[in-house]
Amino acid sequence: MEKKSTTSGEYVVIKAIDDGVNVIGLTRGTDTRFHHSEKLDKGEVMIAQFTEHTSAIKIRGNAKIFTSYGEVESEAKK
Ligand code: TRP
Repeated sequence: MEKKSTTSGEYVVIKAIDDGVNVIGLTRGTDTRFHHSEKLDKGEVMIAQFTEHTSAIKIRGNAKIFTSYGEVESEAKK
């Protein structure tokens, strides 16, 4: 039998517009905390999924985010 998984299979694409974009993975479950932080420089792309370990993704800095819901831009604090 196939293992039940919370991985949706969907991908989120994050493209850094400036240096120093942070992609932070937050844990799934009763305890919501950072478990991974990835630094992207200008032009770098990260392709990520929601998994049994990752329920949310926080993005800091200027980036374009492409999801099946559409495209959004994160902005750095001025
Ligand atoms: N080990 C993590 C996981 O399987 C890797 C990961 C997946 C991740 N999606 C992410 C890390 C999004 C940061 C952001 O869940």
